[in-house]
Amino acid sequence: MTQAIPHIRAMAPYALAELSAGGAISLAQNESLRPPSPRAIALAQTALSQSQLYPDPDWTELRQALSRVHGIDPEQIVCGTGSLELIAALAQTFAGPGDGVVVPEHAYPFFKTATALSDARLIAAPESGLTVSCEAMACAAQGAKIVFIANPANPTGTRIPTDAPRRLRAALGPEVLLVIDEAYGEFADHLDARCFDMVEDGRTVVLRTFSKAYGLAGARVGWGVFPSALASELRKVLNPNNVSLASQAMALGAVEDQAYMRDTVAQTIAIRDAFRTRLCAAGYDIPETHTNFVLIPFASDYAAAEADAVLKSHGLVLRQQGGAGLPHCLRATVCDASVMDRLADVLCDMAKGETP
Ligand SMILES: Cc1ncc(COP(=O)(O)O)c(C=O)c1O
Repeated sequence: MTQAIPHIRAMAPYALAELSAGGAISLAQNESLRPPSPRAIALAQTALSQSQLYPDPDWTELRQALSRVHGIDPEQIVCGTGSLELIAALAQTFAGPGDGVVVPEHAYPFFKTATALSDARLIAAPESGLTVSCEAMACAAQGAKIVFIANPANPTGTRIPTDAPRRLRAALGPEVLLVIDEAYGEFADHLDARCFDMVEDGRTVVLRTFSKAYGLAGARVGWGVFPSALASELRKVLNPNNVSLASQAMALGAVEDQAYMRDTVAQTIAIRDAFRTRLCAAGYDIPETHTNFVLIPFASDYAAAEADAVLKSHGLVLRQQGGAGLPHCLRATVCDASVMDRLADVLCDMAKGETP
């Protein structure tokens, strides 16, 4: 019988959110609270009518637009089918069987999947108060090949201080590749101090995505800033025609409409902060978040599972965070205000000991 090679056989399938409940509202995947910019949709419609053609393998227009908006060299940009493709390709390209890959204790679970795909060795570094500890990461990275952090992080929502990525870089050996995943960077208040120029050192990569603030999760477009020597190696691993014609057009339209993206971010933050304030007033200990989701801790794993079931019975699907070592927490994506009010009503009743 044909069998997968041993390290793939040993892997569990990637656990996505359980969204089977018909008519339920998903607050489980950190998608945007509103559809993409009308400009993105208009450009995609034109692109769809040209879909007999392969897409641009070099993402030329999209890279030029990103370069204009962020002031970075287009030659340093690589695009992927979501940042997931780039994360997996980074692990595949720069770590092999048995090599050390360091992630934080409550890491975004796909970092672990990417490590397993490469048959590399996962090393988890302790966090400090649900926040990445650069000291612990640097300590764990002795002899390792890659360090992955998300900043802001998923599922904690926390971020490290503005100067911390540079301190982490300085504490790592020159042979270690540092990957800073800024999937939620547009929501954070350190936008202007972003890390893109760190790639100049030749051993740091910064990732972004169109799936969150730009509302294009369904289009699957991620991008990153890479030292050019690393980009050339990584591109050998990527599908040479990875991002579809329509998706490139959508991402181009989205990046050209910065006002719409900023408005999405502002709406998300206002709804998120009102929700968090209400829950804190009801007695929940909600960590400060710099993303489009909120982490909700409960007294125990059991209490979180019970709350999850009650919320599902109200048609609200959140995500329990066992995969990130936080099984006593549920994570809620920020949706529109009426959905967040419904969610807060149920959670506040629970806090009062009323089973809704
Ligand atoms: C930290 C982090 N990185 C990467 C991703 C994957 O994003 P994409 O849709 O670009 O593959 C996510 C998605 O939730 C995420 O939370």
